[in-house]
Amino acid sequence: MCGIVGYVGSEEASSILLEALRKLEYRGYDSAGIALVDEHKSLQIRKIKGRLSNLELLVQQKPIAGKCGIAHTRWATHGEPSDLNSHPHTDVSQSIAVVHNGIIENHAQLRAWLEKHQVTFASQTDSEVIAHLIDFHYNGDLLLAVTETVKRLEGSYAIAVACSQHPQLLVVARKDSPLVIGRAENFTMLASDVPPLLSHTRGVQYLEDLEVATLTQHEVHIYNLDGDEIEREIQTIDWDMEAAEKCGFEHFMLKEICEQPKALRDTLRARYKDGSLSFPVQIENLLENCKHLLITGCGTAYHAAMVASYVIEQVAGLPVEVLVASELRYRPHIRKEGEVCLLISQSGETADTIASLRLLKELGIPTIALTNVVGCTLSREADWVLYTQAGPEIAVASTKAFTTQLLSLFTIASLIAKQERSGLLEALDQLPGKTQLLIDRQEDIQRFAASQFNKTKVFFMGRLVDFAISLESALKLKEISYTHSEAFAAGELKHGPIALVDTSTLVVALCTQPSLYAKMDSNIKEVKARGATALVITFEDVHTFDDTADAIFRLPQTHPLFSPVLSVIVSQLYAYYCSVLKGNDPDKPRNLAKSVTVE
Ligand code: F6R
Repeated sequence: MCGIVGYVGSEEASSILLEALRKLEYRGYDSAGIALVDEHKSLQIRKIKGRLSNLELLVQQKPIAGKCGIAHTRWATHGEPSDLNSHPHTDVSQSIAVVHNGIIENHAQLRAWLEKHQVTFASQTDSEVIAHLIDFHYNGDLLLAVTETVKRLEGSYAIAVACSQHPQLLVVARKDSPLVIGRAENFTMLASDVPPLLSHTRGVQYLEDLEVATLTQHEVHIYNLDGDEIEREIQTIDWDMEAAEKCGFEHFMLKEICEQPKALRDTLRARYKDGSLSFPVQIENLLENCKHLLITGCGTAYHAAMVASYVIEQVAGLPVEVLVASELRYRPHIRKEGEVCLLISQSGETADTIASLRLLKELGIPTIALTNVVGCTLSREADWVLYTQAGPEIAVASTKAFTTQLLSLFTIASLIAKQERSGLLEALDQLPGKTQLLIDRQEDIQRFAASQFNKTKVFFMGRLVDFAISLESALKLKEISYTHSEAFAAGELKHGPIALVDTSTLVVALCTQPSLYAKMDSNIKEVKARGATALVITFEDVHTFDDTADAIFRLPQTHPLFSPVLSVIVSQLYAYYCSVLKGNDPDKPRNLAKSVTVE
């Protein structure tokens, strides 16, 4: 996820664009850049690694002029954060500048094709191909060149293009990445989100997928890829600034929960192309020859590791050991033959996970990082790295990072699967769409939360992957609603925890493993007999619990081993609504920080 903005109008664009970028900085802070075209048809660019303040300083030291331009704040996906990989990217003659938000999936093929046509690349990004392709198709008509270019792109993009030959024109296009056009009397603007536009105008036009538009000071023309012009009404935004930053959601956490279908789709696209899995060849070799997999992480990332251990052992028959990183770093580690370690961390900056990585490297164990942040410490120090494509996670409680970790781990399980792979891949392919079905039913969870949020004790129980998701569900609920919540392997209930169950207890039973439905039903009966209220989370066609549960939340059908991606969304929404109903701020829970960089 990156942020793009543009301006064409009667005023100097530089400060307007930098101020607009500030409102988008949450979309990425690896680097920032700006390109302006002045009336002498000169294209000037300033770009630099690091936060937006670095760019502001650079522009102060080396000012640029022009009333038409584009700017970008980067969340690195392809190519490490660096000056060269910063946007805007240009063609070889530096007359066309492009900013891009999204992922160009066929960038390697396009790059090879362009290189055959004597194009030299300046960066390692996927985005740079766009600038060169536009140049290739350009013969005086920028709209046509952009249209022909986007027809060749696979993946997701919101792009804005400036060209030295057109000092009063920007061309934009989008597919699967947001782009909003701001309309006013004396200028036209564009941005990835509404907030940068709000201090200038409230009139907006939304560009839809596979549309291209020309923006001048007074006019906007929108076209489909066949060149037919499309009428688009100007809408009036009546949100305040804070609501706009959250795109109309009350909190970042809810926004991030609802972004999961897209985050999962983007993550899957990176690992699964044209019906087959796609991993860097060295990682594929390492995993296929691995005899013992060690997985580590902290908090939510540790829970992802737990889920993975059940799934990998079952589909691949590979022994998996899971350790919390804060324990691993202090335990004597006995190296096993053929051992590989996978380290999971959203931020890639968690102190215990990094310490574990260093220890394992000293022991000579090959390490693979699974992280969401390109260029983070973990990615730099591990032998190999895989990325989730969740985009920036702002709410402290992890949601979309967790489900994208799960999905990545499921692709690893499928890669080393000893059983028929096609059934697994088909189920994986359908998962993002199924999460959307759940999110569409969030009001059911809100209603249940409204009837239960005052419960002082909430226990989650399940078996196998459902136990791992019970742990994650209890963590989510306690961290943002401050409700005492615990998780148990359901079979352990009788060994102690049942002593705590009484009429004030809500028990959430996760029941997605068909061979264990009967066992779970007995456990639910046991807690009900002690006066607890029981919510069951199970699949839509399961009726085992109809007479036992007080309430049932039904998940769309999927491969039972992949149910965690669905069941955890119910828990995330339940925790979120309980937190809000209790008057807490779910985005900033007390005593917690997003990134635990100290021990
Ligand atoms: C809980 C949560 C934390 C993190 C943990 C590890 O919602 O977010 O438990 O999962 O602090 O963080 P990363 O994944 O950045 O290493």
